[in-house]
Amino acid sequence: EDDPPSTREPVKQRLASLSYPSLSSSPTKASSIQQPNQLLTFSYNTEHIQEFNDSALRYFVEPPRGADLGFHYEKWIKRPEERGRLDALLSAWSKFKKSAVSVPDIHVISWRGVMTKILVAPYEETDSWELNVMLVHGTFYLEEHLSDAKLKEKDAMTPRHRLQSYYGYAFESYCTSTEPRPSGWGGDVNTNVQWCSVVKTKLGDRRIVMGGEVDCVRGDYSGRTDDYVELKTSLSIRNASDEAKFEKKLLKFYFQSFLLGVPEIVVGFRKPSGHLTAVQSFRTVEIPRLVRGKPDTWDPSICLEWGDAFLAFLQTTVQPGTGREVWRVSFEPRVGVRAEVVDVAEGEDRVGILPRWYWDGLN
Ligand code: A3P
Ligand code: MG
Ligand code: MG
Repeated sequence: EDDPPSTREPVKQRLASLSYPSLSSSPTKASSIQQPNQLLTFSYNTEHIQEFNDSALRYFVEPPRGADLGFHYEKWIKRPEERGRLDALLSAWSKFKKSAVSVPDIHVISWRGVMTKILVAPYEETDSWELNVMLVHGTFYLEEHLSDAKLKEKDAMTPRHRLQSYYGYAFESYCTSTEPRPSGWGGDVNTNVQWCSVVKTKLGDRRIVMGGEVDCVRGDYSGRTDDYVELKTSLSIRNASDEAKFEKKLLKFYFQSFLLGVPEIVVGFRKPSGHLTAVQSFRTVEIPRLVRGKPDTWDPSICLEWGDAFLAFLQTTVQPGTGREVWRVSFEPRVGVRAEVVDVAEGEDRVGILPRWYWDGLN
């Protein structure tokens, strides 16, 4: 208590911020993002246990028109909301490193969902988010921070919202199969089951390892990402306002898919009642051109520039201390980002946000 302020854990005093980008003009020299390279794939089984195989891979099949996306809603095995821990991604990364001839320095390791949130932030108008960040031996580890309150809030969906969420999974079931088959219901929904791809990419000068779910593949799977398909549902477009809403959603669809190198997005349009009205396929790389010049549109180069600035901000803000510090990075729409060191309880099995087995492997 008697310590002079300057010697009292100075790292905790740090609070830094990055302000919101301008949306009115495109950057003159846009930061580039590399086409991702796939490192490996893995599955989560029906109990959501990670397996290093392709048992959860699904093949695309044409969904039946008019299909009822509320079908077998009561049979849904819903995976509970959980914290976005990096454990499964770090298992995959460790496995890859063991088998690789040479491993480049990686600057960022994160789930694809987190990278998508970061990149689309310039156009996010309502939802704030928080990340936990650690810097260990030059690599940033980023996970979404969900407070107990936020986790509860996510789990306590209204019945209407829960059903709408189910429509997305039911569409996946109609569009996928464990083997080639004619169209129809693909089996009851168990959201524990997921097939994931882990890739290496580069934004500006920083190499990134990312993992995320791939909904299905077209044709035979030969280990290449060229035939990956992302599935989405959206309300049928009836007027200009619906169209504008859909074009806004395309920003998230675009980066979510682009980041893993998924070249095709199949959108199922549905009525409010959950019945499928139309299915349309989009080439991921062509999406920015579809929205260019529209009112209130988005520009991917603003997102990439911002993403690059965000990572540069982490680099200058997060100081390599003991490596065990956890930083909380908070994004507020229309304001920007701030970062500060937080206390997180260390346990037997975790150092900061990292599983202890992984930390021990690094140190
Ligand atoms: P739709 O996006 O078709 O509505 P993903 O598209 O990322 O593969 O996710 C599959 C489905 O998960 C989504 O289908 C949606 O139903 C559900 N989902 C994803 N994120 C959600 C969220 N934040 N809240 C509720 N449901 C969500
Ligand atoms: Mg998915
Ligand atoms: Mg999907």
